[in-house]
Amino acid sequence: MKDLTGRVVVITGGARGIGRATAERLSAAGARVVIGDLDAALATSVAEQIGRGAVAAGLDVTSADSWRAFLAATAEAGPVDALVNNAGVMPIGSLLKEPDEVTRTIVDVNLHGVINGTKAVVPGMIERGHGHVVNVSSAVGRVAVADGATYSASKFAVVGFSEAMRSELRPQGVDVSAVLPTVVQTELSAGVPAAKGVKPVTADDVAKVIESVLRKPKAEVWVPRWSQAIVKVSGALPRTVQDAVSRAMGADKVFHSADPSARAAYEERARRS
Ligand SMILES: NC(=O)c1ccc[n+]([C@@H]2O[C@H](COP(=O)([O-])OP(=O)(O)OC[C@H]3O[C@@H](n4cnc5c(N)ncnc54)[C@H](O)[C@@H]3O)[C@@H](O)[C@H]2O)c1
Repeated sequence: MKDLTGRVVVITGGARGIGRATAERLSAAGARVVIGDLDAALATSVAEQIGRGAVAAGLDVTSADSWRAFLAATAEAGPVDALVNNAGVMPIGSLLKEPDEVTRTIVDVNLHGVINGTKAVVPGMIERGHGHVVNVSSAVGRVAVADGATYSASKFAVVGFSEAMRSELRPQGVDVSAVLPTVVQTELSAGVPAAKGVKPVTADDVAKVIESVLRKPKAEVWVPRWSQAIVKVSGALPRTVQDAVSRAMGADKVFHSADPSARAAYEERARRS
């Protein structure tokens, strides 16, 4: 999909943060963007601001029925060429203090949301013989840290799901990619410090990578891109050395040292997802 002109791209969680930046960037590149978000009013207002044929509707990625209703409500955009499974939530803290309903919400939105989206959109892509699914995972989907166990588990699962679906769908003309950002400046990461030497990236930095992956499919890309090489190299080192590097960079404490007052508003919204 070297040329995005006229391509129809569905973006989940497109009312805010990375999803919104991706919708803006892809629309500017000529794509027709279809925004789905739990916050239907905000999604609609974002689509109106973007213009250029952007459409939006309410979507709860955790529900197969909601996916069907969303695709029917936005069918005017035309057959879907690409799906960006971006919607996600990140309540953090010790697993032992995490209420069961929050644990379920994290897995439901971050993992079942991606699975539901794939099941809803990919059959049409297979019929048409082409398509691309980009799943937004996280750096903690490869390198887990304390106080984010359920979130990390959900994002590891997205990486595994993406790998399996990539080999399953490739023979049918559908690409699957995983994008793994480090800390991104959005409401989701409020109060979360970046590891030493890793500058937080912007939502548009991630959007740029998603755009480039759509133009030239890759199995897995990190944001910033160089962080992927560091993790690959350190993955070859003995575990004790990996742990020491993580401690030296403060990477093991990014969630533990998050500022609770800066996170309060986001944590409240995430629990309602
Ligand atoms: N911000 C970061 O530091 C960071 C880092 C790595 C990965 N990510 C991932 O990037 C993705 C986007 O995160 P963000 O930082 O832009 O977050 P955000 O909170 O700014 O935006 C997420 C959007 O998803 C929507 N959403 C939540 N639950 C939903 C549901 N059930 N159905 C539909 N929409 C729903 C929200 O309403 C919101 O508009 C997430 O998957 C997140 O895990 C973020």
